[in-house]
Amino acid sequence: MPGQFRWSVDRVVGEAREAWELGIPAVILFGIPEQKDERGSSACDAQGVVQQAVRTLKAQLPDLMVLTDVCIDEYTSHGHCGVVGNGRILNDETLECLQAMAISHAEAGVDMVAPSDMMDGRVGAIRQALDARGYSELPILAYSAKYASTLYAPFRDAAFSSPSFGDRRSYQMDPANAREALQEVDLDVQEGADMVMVKPAMFYLDIIRLVREHVDVPLAAYQVSGEYSMIKAAAQLGWMSETPLMMESLLSIKRAGADVILTYFAKDAARILTGHDV
Ligand code: PBG
Repeated sequence: MPGQFRWSVDRVVGEAREAWELGIPAVILFGIPEQKDERGSSACDAQGVVQQAVRTLKAQLPDLMVLTDVCIDEYTSHGHCGVVGNGRILNDETLECLQAMAISHAEAGVDMVAPSDMMDGRVGAIRQALDARGYSELPILAYSAKYASTLYAPFRDAAFSSPSFGDRRSYQMDPANAREALQEVDLDVQEGADMVMVKPAMFYLDIIRLVREHVDVPLAAYQVSGEYSMIKAAAQLGWMSETPLMMESLLSIKRAGADVILTYFAKDAARILTGHDV
């Protein structure tokens, strides 16, 4: 992805400081471990890259809000978001991994955890585990309506997290199904989600609108790697002008009803919004 980098713990602070100084209130961390295994056990390592990055960022930039993605796909050798047995994803066994991962992020000092795995019951399981350890005030942003989209390809390329067999359609949502998004949102809110998310954003503006009208918790939308890359590619080919295209894309997500936007364009957009040059 042009303009996007995998940061080491020592260098992530500079990147985060730049974002903070542009007025971006929060960052979300995804980890790429040195070692991957069947159960994604490095996801829970107190010395793992995300845990170290959380500690470093909170020490250096205490007012910047730090979120972590809670999902084992970057840590599993097979690239799935769940524990695998007999070629299937084992939902309930995965919940234990997610609980341990969320606790290790909490212990590192994260401000909010964001489960993106799409296992059933994970928000409730994580809430229960956090409460039991004294983290009852740590909020959860649930990736509630996460579709099985082609638009994640550039991210998987960057994180080496493409599934080695099958696909993610047994746990991510069917792009043709709108009403299921509301069911997923309702379950997550009942289980304790403090904020819900729709992902991807631009091809799913109708879902953002539906969810906005359906629940009153804050709503986030994630403009994913493929959305970013399409805009970048069109600009690089000289077919459209990048800045207005980027701003129109973000405006459409906002207009659809998102309170919060996760986007790889954050720094570029912040420069425009605050009157800096791009
Ligand atoms: C999975 C995960 C995905 C992304 C980040 N974490 C989706 C997937 O691979 O199915 C994609 C993010 C992006 O495309 O920007 N936990």
